[in-house]
Amino acid sequence: RRLLGTAGAAGAAGLMAGGAAGAGVAAAVDGEPVALATVGSAHIPFEGAHQAGIVQPAQARGHLVAFDLVAGADRKDAAALLRRWSDAVRTMTAADRPSAPAAYDDQVAYDAGPSSLTVTFGFGRSFFGRTGLGSALPEALAPLPDFAGDRLDAARSNGDLWVQIGADDALVAFHALRVLQKAAGGTAAVRWQMNGFNRTPGAAPHPMTGRNLMGQIDGTNNPKPSDPDFARRVFVPAGGSPGWMAGGSYAVVRRIRMLLDDWDHLAVARQEKVIGRRKSDGAPLSGGTEFTPVDLAKFNADGSPAIAGDAHVRVAAPASNGGAAMLRRAFSYHDGIDQDGTPDAGLLFVAWQADPLKGFVPVQRKLDGGDGLSRFLRHESSGLFAVPGGVGRGEYVGQRLLE
Ligand code: HEM
Repeated sequence: RRLLGTAGAAGAAGLMAGGAAGAGVAAAVDGEPVALATVGSAHIPFEGAHQAGIVQPAQARGHLVAFDLVAGADRKDAAALLRRWSDAVRTMTAADRPSAPAAYDDQVAYDAGPSSLTVTFGFGRSFFGRTGLGSALPEALAPLPDFAGDRLDAARSNGDLWVQIGADDALVAFHALRVLQKAAGGTAAVRWQMNGFNRTPGAAPHPMTGRNLMGQIDGTNNPKPSDPDFARRVFVPAGGSPGWMAGGSYAVVRRIRMLLDDWDHLAVARQEKVIGRRKSDGAPLSGGTEFTPVDLAKFNADGSPAIAGDAHVRVAAPASNGGAAMLRRAFSYHDGIDQDGTPDAGLLFVAWQADPLKGFVPVQRKLDGGDGLSRFLRHESSGLFAVPGGVGRGEYVGQRLLE
């Protein structure tokens, strides 16, 4: 029975990918679904109106990587690199894929299917100066403001190029990272790299919103692709500026450390007040179940607000921020235990929006000042990247910018 849960999870991913649903159907052996084959065979097409890895549910494994162009690399070199990268990803994500272009293959992903692999490419602000493309620099790539709570490590922030890799299999994800690093050789070098994870499809009995490392159900009130204003909030419209970003999106990347020892000392009722939702099932403290809309105006019998004044969901809500909304699609991370015994763990927060000045920036400004959760967080690195629209047959990502 439990195996069927896996088929459902993969099917849901396929549906969101738009047309890839068939890939999620379980193979049957003696009439029984085979969960492992289902996870492996799920594939998300590389080509489409938008790059893959934005609207699909975040995979079980993620790598976030920034590259800097090497000294002397110019726009033509960058275009050739995006061509090599795009062709490699096209091959690795195909339903009937060979594991990778032969030139870079190390056989690490042999035997595995595409496993919902997506690779998403973006450009950082510094890319435009280095390639003489200053006139194409989007206004939306203005540096993010400083926030009072920031403790940013410049070496792990920003970068000329950004790559987000996601897959439901760890070997497939690692392999993609290696292939892209080899293909970058001579043109771009890794600036920073982070590894993340989420619940594995099939680990829960049916598709559910995931949990983060504080134990909260995280992602409930995200914009949904079925919302009428979803595309307007997340993607740059055709006719938007600059023209080469049509169908694209802006990714804000924050490595947010969770101060888990402090957090774990709070009683669950306190933790719930900090967020404004129940920990067990994600229901808002104003009542109902996980997907019941939060009622920010509701008061308890004793006259206190049902959702506290500094509750994360109140401070972050679009209603508190002039309608500002973003699609949060994060990976958890854990990079070991520090000398003092505290876990180096938290969230690789990735927020997608058509304009960061109408998404992340106003919300983070509010959170920075008055969010009960921020006492338990530390923003340790930051990046903002312009992620161009998707590609058609034979095209490479960023072609409209680079050719
Ligand atoms: C909602 C956790 C950082 C923006 C939530 C929820 C949780 C959560 C548990 C409620 C469930 C949901 O709707 O997803 C966290 C944690 C963070 C973090 C653990 C850091 C490690 C941020 C940051 C931003 C943000 C940096 C943006 C600047 C939002 C928004 C909502 C939300 C917009 C939905 C509010 C609503 O409309 O109900 N977050 N969050 N969060 N968070 Fe965060």
